[in-house]
Amino acid sequence: MTRMTEPPPFDASFQIDQGALVKAVELLATHAPLGEGPDLAKLPSKLPSVGVDETALVSALAKLVLSGGFDLGGPVSFAHMDPPTPWLTWVMTLWNARLNQNLLHPATSPSARLLEERVVSWLAPYFGMSGGHMVPGSTTANLTALWAARDVGGATEIVASDTAHVSIEKSARILGLPFRRLPTDETGRLIADSVKNVENACLVLVAGTTSTGAIDPLSLSGRAAWTHVDAAWAGPLRLSDHYTSRLDGIEAADSVAVSAHKWLFQPKESALIFFTDTQAANAALSFGGAYLAAPNIGLLGSHGAAAVPLLAMLMAWGKQGLADRLDRCMAAAASFASFVKGEERLELLGEPHTGVVVWRPRNVDIDMFYASLPSGLASQTSIRGSRWLRCVAANPNTDIDAVIAAVREAISRVY
Ligand SMILES: Cc1ncc(COP(=O)(O)O)c(C=O)c1O
Repeated sequence: MTRMTEPPPFDASFQIDQGALVKAVELLATHAPLGEGPDLAKLPSKLPSVGVDETALVSALAKLVLSGGFDLGGPVSFAHMDPPTPWLTWVMTLWNARLNQNLLHPATSPSARLLEERVVSWLAPYFGMSGGHMVPGSTTANLTALWAARDVGGATEIVASDTAHVSIEKSARILGLPFRRLPTDETGRLIADSVKNVENACLVLVAGTTSTGAIDPLSLSGRAAWTHVDAAWAGPLRLSDHYTSRLDGIEAADSVAVSAHKWLFQPKESALIFFTDTQAANAALSFGGAYLAAPNIGLLGSHGAAAVPLLAMLMAWGKQGLADRLDRCMAAAASFASFVKGEERLELLGEPHTGVVVWRPRNVDIDMFYASLPSGLASQTSIRGSRWLRCVAANPNTDIDAVIAAVREAISRVY
């Protein structure tokens, strides 16, 4: 049979261009992130009406995107809860982009849905949970949990410490539930005695507060109508034999949130929400639709295969490899805290429990001191109205001697 119309022109934009991909990887290797920020003058000020050669564009963007970025894996990178990512996750992310699977539909994600179920089944038991699903961050994980607390646990109020992450109050607002704050001690840990009248509440306990890395008394799990543990930061410590006991009590919670793009070294956006009774949670959080072949569980509509890089990294490292890296981070935090304690011009807020070291210089302007530190070594935080510096051991390649040398240098400049 002869065609009535000409076939459409072959569109190479949707095909593998091996040479261009190799070139892109070379650029990744040769353009170190320098934290320069992009030179916006080099970008068109308006949407270009015609395009340019794609391979040439990749080279042109390398300076803007790669050199402009900040190196989270550098020797003195010690400031934030954002880790460097292992190279294996870059490859898996590229594969994900190529396939663009949508976990909303089994037909468009024949492998990805099953891979996510498998990763979740590997991790959930460490938290005493039966299952769950992946979400783009712990903000979403917390909202999902609090939704289940309301609709499965019957919670009519959200109760959390005054250092709980802003996403808890945000979730309470979205869900139309009143939010009650409880007091904390000077390290940011919930005061256990203040937990009263929670029979009808969702009690949120934090494992690794944002400012100080404090762990709330997790032994309170199970007292409320629903207990949610926000383990966005410190959850992965559960997989370290050395530190797992710090999170004892978490297994009695009803739900647990963990950010994989924090201490599970994943590219953003990647997090997990786990439930004790996954069946009940899924039933309450599911919506069907005429066009959906499977129920849509949770907050997300279309979403990608965040489990793939996580699965690859966990297979490559094993539990022990992950634990070794976490232990290294914890050791770096302990060494830095010990340096601060021994330096009379510096003050330490308290021992770091989850790799977060809160400290500051004594008797000098904190802004001046902060400005003399290399960028990315510390961040700033406010605790009970007082300003502090904060280091977070998310980078297993932090060179603690280089960090200490840089702080000594700042001391010699400022004092
Ligand atoms: C304790 C805590 N909970 C929740 C979040 C929110 O997580 P995400 O940034 O993954 O949305 C954070 C972020 O820093 C956090 O520290």
